[in-house]
Order: sequence, then structure tokens, then C-alpha cells
Amino acid sequence: MNPQSNLKDKWILITGASKGLGKEMVLLFAQAGANLILTARSSELLDELKARVSADGRQCVTIAGDLRDSAVLASVISIGLEKQLDILVNNAGVVDITKLEGVSDERVDEVIELNLTIPIKLTKGVIEMFKTRKRGVIVNVNSAGGKKPVPDHTIYCASKYGFNGFAEALKLEIKGFGIRIVNVCPGKMATELFTAADREMDTEAFIDPREVAEGVLYMLEMSPKCSHAELNVDRMS
Ligand SMILES: NC(=O)c1ccc[n+]([C@@H]2O[C@H](COP(=O)([O-])OP(=O)(O)OC[C@H]3O[C@@H](n4cnc5c(N)ncnc54)[C@H](OP(=O)(O)O)[C@@H]3O)[C@@H](O)[C@H]2O)c1
Repeated sequence: MNPQSNLKDKWILITGASKGLGKEMVLLFAQAGANLILTARSSELLDELKARVSADGRQCVTIAGDLRDSAVLASVISIGLEKQLDILVNNAGVVDITKLEGVSDERVDEVIELNLTIPIKLTKGVIEMFKTRKRGVIVNVNSAGGKKPVPDHTIYCASKYGFNGFAEALKLEIKGFGIRIVNVCPGKMATELFTAADREMDTEAFIDPREVAEGVLYMLEMSPKCSHAELNVDRMS
């Protein structure tokens, strides 16, 4: 544990904590001394992470479930408030790679809900507490696809552009409250995101999610005097 870390004994809530970028952030933030609230659907993967984090002496609460289930979402927010959350990491996401005419309505709902509506609801759930305490950090894992269109990622780009718009407008609302938004925009990372979308890809040239997690840690270690920050990382093409 790093005794000098700004994260020491802070409570951090990470969505999509079970794998990929979320998992890498869990391991790094725990090493820095943070306590963690972890959520994702895979309870076994969350239990494994909890065991690793607890072995390092950190406190860890897990909530296994689908964030689209309103009871799961309510329970995540309630635990965040109970633990007096310091940092919210909106990371859970799904991708869709289909031409518009081929996307089912259910898939449209899933992508928009998970990538846009749920981060909005989670942020709404904790923002009053952050405002009252005049501090708090919101890490939004967006995407290079939230800034530049990607062919056949139309619904994904819509969700991530919307997420960006939400964050930019929220910055105006929270001005003067000491709350910081960290926007993370990676290019393609070597995670299971594309496998989950039934896409086999050669991930050899993709970014290692550990490196993106290290970038996020660096931004969280910045002094609370620093305002909003953005991490853009793309792969060599
Ligand atoms: N990989 C890339 O190339 C890339 C590029 C730019 C941005 N991003 C963004 O980075 C973030 C993390 O993605 P990743 O690449 O690390 O993908 P990943 O390895 O597939 O991880 C996605 C996480 O979201 C969770 N999740 C998915 N559906 C869920 C649901 N319905 N309810 C609750 N949790 C759910 C998954 O856990 P369970 O399956 O256990 O539920 C998993 O922990 C996403 O927001 C993504 O858009 C990824």
C-alpha cells in the first residue's frame, strides 16, 4: 500500500469491476490503499477479486447483479451512500457492432441503458452527497468512439456521445462544489468487450487495459486543487 496516496482509505465504487479495465482499476486502487464497492453480474469473479483485495487489508463490498435491474441499481446507490462514497467510477459498458438495420430494439435499449442511462442514474444517486460535502470525483469511462464516429458502431457512438454531453452539461451544474469529473477515452483495449459482442478480433495491437488503469490512477492522485481532467489513449495504427 502507498501511504502517501490520495486514495488511502477512500471509498471507490466501480461498475463493471469483474473484468477488463474495471478489474485492472480495482487491483491498482486497492494497492494504493482504497476501499472498494464492486459491482458486475459475475458473482464468482467479484468474489475472487474481493478475496485478493481483502488479503491486502482493504475493505470490499460486492453487489452481483444486472445494473439494468432497478433493485440492483438501488442497492448499489444505497451502499455508496452508506459508505460515504468518495469516487464513483462509471465503467460498465457494452458494445454493438452492427449496421443500424440489423440491430434489434432490445439491443438498442441494452447499449443505451448500460452506457448512458445507468451512469446518469448512478451519478444522480450520489451527486447530492458530493455537493453537500463539497468534494467527490466522478470517473466516466467513455471511449474514443464518444468523440469520433466509428463505422458500424452507431448505437455505441450514440451512447458514448450522449454520455459525453451529460458530463459536459453536469460540469456547469456542479461548478463551485469542489466535484471533479475525470473523462477517460480509450481506443481499442484488449478486453472481452468485443467477444461479448460476438466479435472475434485480433487484439494483438490493442491497448493493455492495465496501462489505461494506470493513467486513471495518475489522474486520481492529482491534488484536489486540480479540476476536471481527461485521459485520451489510442493505439498505434
Ligand atoms: N475494450 C475497448 O476497446 C474499449 C474502448 C473504449 C472504451 N471502452 C469502455 O471501457 C469500459 C469497460 O469495458 P471493457 O473493455 O473493460 O469491457 P469488458 O471486459 O467486457 O468489461 C465490461 C464490464 O461491464 C460489466 N457489465 C456488462 N454488462 C453488464 C450489466 N448488464 N450489468 C452489470 N455489469 C455489466 C461486465 O461484467 P459482467 O459480465 O460480470 O456483468 C464487465 O465487468 C466500457 O464502458 C467500454 O465502453 C472499452
